Amino acid sequence: MPNLAVIGHPVAHSRSPAMQTAALTELGLAGEWTYGALDVAPADFEAEVAELAAEGEYAGLNVTVPHKEAALAMADEASAAASAIGAANTLSFRDGRIEAANTDAGGLLRSLPARISGRRALVLGAGGAARGAIWALAHGGEGADEQIPPFEVDVWNRTPERGETVAAALGASVVADPVAADYALIVNTTAVGLRGEDPFEHLPLGADSFGPDQVVVDMVYGEEPSPLLAAALAAGATTVDGLEMLVQQGALSLRIWTGEEPDIEAMRTAVRH
Ligand code: ATR
Repeated sequence: MPNLAVIGHPVAHSRSPAMQTAALTELGLAGEWTYGALDVAPADFEAEVAELAAEGEYAGLNVTVPHKEAALAMADEASAAASAIGAANTLSFRDGRIEAANTDAGGLLRSLPARISGRRALVLGAGGAARGAIWALAHGGEGADEQIPPFEVDVWNRTPERGETVAAALGASVVADPVAADYALIVNTTAVGLRGEDPFEHLPLGADSFGPDQVVVDMVYGEEPSPLLAAALAAGATTVDGLEMLVQQGALSLRIWTGEEPDIEAMRTAVRH
Protein backbone atom coordinates (compact mmCIF):
# COMPACT_ATOMS: atom_id res chain seq x y z
CA MET A 1 0.00 0.00 0.00
CA PRO A 2 1.87 3.12 -1.15
CA ASN A 3 1.55 6.03 1.21
CA LEU A 4 1.99 9.69 0.37
CA ALA A 5 1.97 12.77 2.59
CA VAL A 6 2.71 16.45 2.77
CA ILE A 7 5.56 17.12 5.18
CA GLY A 8 5.83 20.58 6.77
CA HIS A 9 5.95 22.51 10.04
CA PRO A 10 3.25 23.47 10.80
CA VAL A 11 1.11 21.45 8.43
CA ALA A 12 -2.31 21.14 10.12
CA HIS A 13 -3.80 23.88 7.90
CA SER A 14 -2.61 22.22 4.66
CA ARG A 15 -5.23 21.59 2.01
CA SER A 16 -3.05 19.03 0.24
CA PRO A 17 -4.47 15.93 2.01
CA ALA A 18 -8.07 16.79 1.02
CA MET A 19 -7.01 17.77 -2.48
CA GLN A 20 -4.77 14.77 -3.17
CA THR A 21 -7.22 12.33 -1.60
CA ALA A 22 -9.93 13.68 -3.93
CA ALA A 23 -7.58 13.16 -6.88
CA LEU A 24 -6.72 9.59 -5.80
CA THR A 25 -10.43 8.81 -5.33
CA GLU A 26 -11.22 10.12 -8.80
CA LEU A 27 -8.41 7.96 -10.26
CA GLY A 28 -9.82 4.89 -8.49
CA LEU A 29 -6.64 4.61 -6.42
CA ALA A 30 -7.98 5.60 -3.00
CA GLY A 31 -8.23 2.01 -1.78
CA GLU A 32 -4.60 1.43 -2.60
CA TRP A 33 -2.92 4.79 -1.98
CA THR A 34 -3.23 7.05 1.07
CA TYR A 35 -2.28 10.71 1.43
CA GLY A 36 -1.71 12.22 4.89
CA ALA A 37 0.13 15.04 6.66
CA LEU A 38 3.36 14.82 8.64
CA ASP A 39 4.29 17.64 11.02
CA VAL A 40 8.05 17.37 11.42
CA ALA A 41 10.32 19.99 12.99
CA PRO A 42 13.38 21.09 10.99
CA ALA A 43 15.80 19.33 13.36
CA ASP A 44 14.11 15.98 12.70
CA PHE A 45 13.45 16.38 8.97
CA GLU A 46 16.41 14.54 7.50
CA ALA A 47 16.21 11.54 9.84
CA GLU A 48 12.46 11.23 9.36
CA VAL A 49 12.64 11.33 5.56
CA ALA A 50 15.59 8.92 5.46
CA GLU A 51 13.59 6.46 7.56
CA LEU A 52 10.47 6.78 5.36
CA ALA A 53 12.56 6.25 2.22
CA ALA A 54 14.28 3.19 3.70
CA GLU A 55 11.25 1.42 5.19
CA GLY A 56 9.40 1.19 1.86
CA GLU A 57 5.84 2.09 2.87
CA TYR A 58 5.94 5.57 1.34
CA ALA A 59 6.10 6.31 -2.38
CA GLY A 60 6.95 9.95 -1.81
CA LEU A 61 6.22 13.29 -0.14
CA ASN A 62 5.08 16.77 -0.97
CA VAL A 63 7.41 19.11 0.87
CA THR A 64 6.30 22.49 2.15
CA VAL A 65 7.58 25.29 4.38
CA PRO A 66 10.20 25.22 5.89
CA HIS A 67 11.71 22.06 4.42
CA LYS A 68 12.06 22.67 0.67
CA GLU A 69 15.81 23.45 0.74
CA ALA A 70 16.56 20.56 3.12
CA ALA A 71 14.60 18.20 0.87
CA LEU A 72 16.79 19.06 -2.10
CA ALA A 73 19.96 18.84 -0.04
CA MET A 74 19.32 15.27 1.12
CA ALA A 75 18.15 13.84 -2.22
CA ASP A 76 20.23 11.31 -4.16
CA GLU A 77 19.08 12.81 -7.46
CA ALA A 78 17.47 16.10 -8.38
CA SER A 79 15.67 17.42 -11.45
CA ALA A 80 17.05 20.38 -13.36
CA ALA A 81 14.30 22.61 -11.96
CA ALA A 82 14.90 21.62 -8.33
CA SER A 83 18.67 22.11 -8.69
CA ALA A 84 18.37 25.52 -10.36
CA ILE A 85 15.71 26.78 -7.96
CA GLY A 86 17.57 25.40 -4.93
CA ALA A 87 14.46 23.78 -3.47
CA ALA A 88 12.32 20.68 -3.90
CA ASN A 89 8.59 20.37 -3.22
CA THR A 90 8.34 16.75 -4.33
CA LEU A 91 10.31 13.69 -3.19
CA SER A 92 9.94 10.22 -4.69
CA PHE A 93 11.30 7.09 -3.04
CA ARG A 94 12.49 4.40 -5.44
CA ASP A 95 14.37 1.38 -4.14
CA GLY A 96 15.52 3.32 -1.11
CA ARG A 97 16.80 6.22 -3.20
CA ILE A 98 15.39 9.73 -2.90
CA GLU A 99 14.59 11.72 -6.05
CA ALA A 100 13.81 15.44 -5.76
CA ALA A 101 11.67 17.49 -8.13
CA ASN A 102 10.13 20.95 -8.11
CA THR A 103 6.58 21.09 -9.45
CA ASP A 104 5.96 24.63 -8.15
CA ALA A 105 7.67 25.83 -11.34
CA GLY A 106 5.58 23.77 -13.75
CA GLY A 107 2.50 24.40 -11.62
CA LEU A 108 2.81 28.15 -12.16
CA LEU A 109 3.04 27.71 -15.94
CA ARG A 110 0.04 25.39 -15.99
CA SER A 111 -1.95 27.97 -14.00
CA LEU A 112 -1.49 30.63 -16.66
CA PRO A 113 -4.07 31.26 -19.37
CA ALA A 114 -3.19 29.95 -22.83
CA ARG A 115 -2.98 33.42 -24.34
CA ILE A 116 -0.86 36.14 -22.79
CA SER A 117 -0.51 39.46 -24.59
CA GLY A 118 3.29 39.79 -24.35
CA ARG A 119 6.48 38.20 -23.07
CA ARG A 120 7.52 40.59 -20.31
CA ALA A 121 6.91 39.44 -16.76
CA LEU A 122 7.38 41.20 -13.42
CA VAL A 123 8.06 39.05 -10.36
CA LEU A 124 7.62 40.72 -6.96
CA GLY A 125 9.80 39.18 -4.25
CA ALA A 126 13.05 37.26 -4.01
CA GLY A 127 12.34 34.41 -1.58
CA GLY A 128 11.88 30.73 -2.27
CA ALA A 129 8.56 31.19 -4.05
CA ALA A 130 10.08 33.89 -6.27
CA ARG A 131 12.99 31.61 -7.26
CA GLY A 132 10.55 28.99 -8.53
CA ALA A 133 8.49 31.56 -10.42
CA ILE A 134 11.49 33.28 -12.01
CA TRP A 135 13.03 30.01 -13.13
CA ALA A 136 9.75 28.74 -14.54
CA LEU A 137 9.03 31.92 -16.47
CA ALA A 138 12.57 32.39 -17.75
CA HIS A 139 13.17 28.74 -18.71
CA GLY A 140 9.88 26.86 -19.07
CA GLY A 141 8.71 24.56 -16.32
CA GLU A 142 9.51 20.99 -15.53
CA GLY A 143 6.59 18.69 -16.20
CA ALA A 144 4.66 21.34 -18.10
CA ASP A 145 3.27 19.84 -21.29
CA GLU A 146 2.48 23.19 -22.78
CA GLN A 147 5.34 24.65 -24.73
CA ILE A 148 5.29 28.09 -23.19
CA PRO A 149 7.81 30.47 -24.72
CA PRO A 150 10.11 31.96 -22.11
CA PHE A 151 9.43 35.36 -20.61
CA GLU A 152 11.81 38.23 -20.17
CA VAL A 153 11.66 38.51 -16.38
CA ASP A 154 12.17 41.61 -14.22
CA VAL A 155 12.44 41.19 -10.46
CA TRP A 156 11.50 43.77 -7.86
CA ASN A 157 12.28 43.14 -4.19
CA ARG A 158 11.90 45.28 -1.06
CA THR A 159 15.52 44.48 -0.19
CA PRO A 160 17.26 45.21 -3.51
CA GLU A 161 20.45 43.22 -2.81
CA ARG A 162 18.44 40.06 -2.40
CA GLY A 163 16.68 40.78 -5.67
CA GLU A 164 20.07 41.25 -7.42
CA THR A 165 21.36 37.90 -6.20
CA VAL A 166 18.27 35.97 -7.23
CA ALA A 167 17.96 37.67 -10.62
CA ALA A 168 21.63 37.04 -11.46
CA ALA A 169 21.34 33.37 -10.50
CA LEU A 170 18.18 32.67 -12.48
CA GLY A 171 18.49 34.73 -15.64
CA ALA A 172 16.35 37.76 -14.79
CA SER A 173 16.97 41.52 -14.42
CA VAL A 174 16.24 43.70 -11.44
CA VAL A 175 14.00 46.73 -11.57
CA ALA A 176 13.79 49.40 -8.87
CA ASP A 177 10.69 51.26 -10.01
CA PRO A 178 8.60 49.07 -12.30
CA VAL A 179 5.81 50.49 -14.47
CA ALA A 180 3.00 47.96 -14.25
CA ALA A 181 1.68 48.73 -17.72
CA ASP A 182 4.95 47.44 -19.24
CA TYR A 183 4.20 43.88 -18.21
CA ALA A 184 1.87 41.30 -19.73
CA LEU A 185 2.27 39.19 -16.58
CA ILE A 186 2.71 40.26 -12.95
CA VAL A 187 3.41 37.64 -10.26
CA ASN A 188 3.32 38.50 -6.55
CA THR A 189 5.36 35.98 -4.58
CA THR A 190 5.72 38.12 -1.45
CA ALA A 191 3.81 37.45 1.72
CA VAL A 192 2.19 40.89 1.50
CA GLY A 193 -1.58 40.57 1.84
CA LEU A 194 -1.39 37.36 3.87
CA ARG A 195 -2.16 39.16 7.10
CA GLY A 196 -4.56 41.73 5.72
CA GLU A 197 -1.93 44.39 4.88
CA ASP A 198 -2.68 46.77 2.03
CA PRO A 199 -0.53 45.46 -0.85
CA PHE A 200 -0.48 48.88 -2.49
CA GLU A 201 1.35 50.32 0.51
CA HIS A 202 4.10 47.70 0.32
CA LEU A 203 4.45 46.83 -3.36
CA PRO A 204 5.46 49.09 -6.28
CA LEU A 205 1.94 48.97 -7.75
CA GLY A 206 -1.14 51.13 -7.47
CA ALA A 207 -4.70 49.87 -7.27
CA ASP A 208 -5.11 51.46 -10.73
CA SER A 209 -2.03 49.73 -12.22
CA PHE A 210 -3.84 47.02 -14.10
CA GLY A 211 -5.56 46.67 -17.45
CA PRO A 212 -7.62 44.13 -19.39
CA ASP A 213 -4.63 42.76 -21.34
CA GLN A 214 -2.76 41.72 -18.22
CA VAL A 215 -2.49 38.50 -16.28
CA VAL A 216 -1.96 38.96 -12.54
CA VAL A 217 -0.92 36.10 -10.26
CA ASP A 218 -0.98 36.35 -6.46
CA MET A 219 0.43 33.40 -4.56
CA VAL A 220 -1.35 34.54 -1.41
CA TYR A 221 -4.48 32.49 -0.95
CA GLY A 222 -7.72 32.52 0.95
CA GLU A 223 -11.43 32.13 0.30
CA GLU A 224 -11.81 35.61 -1.16
CA PRO A 225 -9.68 37.18 -3.91
CA SER A 226 -6.72 38.98 -2.32
CA PRO A 227 -6.83 42.81 -2.45
CA LEU A 228 -4.28 42.66 -5.28
CA LEU A 229 -6.41 40.28 -7.34
CA ALA A 230 -9.58 42.18 -6.52
CA ALA A 231 -8.01 45.34 -8.02
CA ALA A 232 -6.80 43.39 -11.05
CA LEU A 233 -10.24 41.85 -11.58
CA ALA A 234 -11.91 45.24 -11.31
CA ALA A 235 -9.64 46.47 -14.13
CA GLY A 236 -10.63 43.51 -16.32
CA ALA A 237 -7.32 41.64 -15.94
CA THR A 238 -7.12 37.84 -15.88
CA THR A 239 -6.21 36.58 -12.41
CA VAL A 240 -4.67 33.43 -10.96
CA ASP A 241 -4.63 32.76 -7.23
CA GLY A 242 -2.50 30.65 -4.93
CA LEU A 243 -5.09 27.88 -4.71
CA GLU A 244 -4.95 27.30 -8.47
CA MET A 245 -1.17 27.05 -8.21
CA LEU A 246 -1.53 24.62 -5.30
CA VAL A 247 -3.80 22.44 -7.44
CA GLN A 248 -1.47 22.48 -10.44
CA GLN A 249 1.71 21.70 -8.49
CA GLY A 250 -0.14 18.93 -6.66
CA ALA A 251 -1.38 17.41 -9.91
CA LEU A 252 2.15 17.37 -11.33
CA SER A 253 3.46 15.71 -8.15
CA LEU A 254 0.73 13.08 -8.22
CA ARG A 255 1.59 12.35 -11.83
CA ILE A 256 5.24 11.76 -10.86
CA TRP A 257 4.23 9.20 -8.19
CA THR A 258 1.33 7.40 -9.89
CA GLY A 259 2.02 7.94 -13.60
CA GLU A 260 -1.63 8.99 -13.97
CA GLU A 261 -3.13 12.32 -15.01
CA PRO A 262 -5.35 13.49 -12.14
CA ASP A 263 -8.73 15.21 -12.51
CA ILE A 264 -7.95 18.91 -12.04
CA GLU A 265 -11.59 19.86 -11.50
CA ALA A 266 -11.98 17.37 -8.62
CA MET A 267 -8.84 18.80 -7.03
CA ARG A 268 -10.13 22.38 -7.43
CA THR A 269 -13.41 21.47 -5.79
CA ALA A 270 -11.67 19.79 -2.85
CA VAL A 271 -9.28 22.66 -2.30
CA ARG A 272 -11.96 25.33 -2.29
CA HIS A 273 -14.31 23.60 0.15
P1 ATR B 1 8.98 32.54 0.47
O1 ATR B 1 9.91 31.39 0.55
O2 ATR B 1 7.55 32.19 0.73
O3 ATR B 1 9.12 33.31 -0.80
P2 ATR B 1 10.63 34.34 2.06
O4 ATR B 1 11.86 33.66 1.63
O5 ATR B 1 10.48 34.69 3.49
O6 ATR B 1 9.33 33.48 1.71
O7 ATR B 1 10.45 35.64 1.16
C1 ATR B 1 9.45 36.54 1.42
C2 ATR B 1 9.42 37.61 0.33
O8 ATR B 1 8.39 38.54 0.66
C3 ATR B 1 10.71 38.43 0.23
O9 ATR B 1 10.91 38.83 -1.10
C4 ATR B 1 10.40 39.62 1.12
O10 ATR B 1 11.15 40.77 0.84
P3 ATR B 1 12.63 40.99 1.53
O11 ATR B 1 13.59 40.15 0.77
O12 ATR B 1 12.85 42.43 1.40
O13 ATR B 1 12.46 40.52 2.97
C5 ATR B 1 8.96 39.84 0.77
N1 ATR B 1 8.21 40.60 1.77
C6 ATR B 1 7.79 40.15 2.99
N2 ATR B 1 7.14 41.13 3.64
C7 ATR B 1 7.13 42.22 2.82
C8 ATR B 1 6.61 43.55 2.91
N3 ATR B 1 5.93 43.97 3.99
N4 ATR B 1 6.82 44.38 1.86
C9 ATR B 1 7.48 43.98 0.76
N5 ATR B 1 8.01 42.74 0.61
C10 ATR B 1 7.83 41.87 1.62
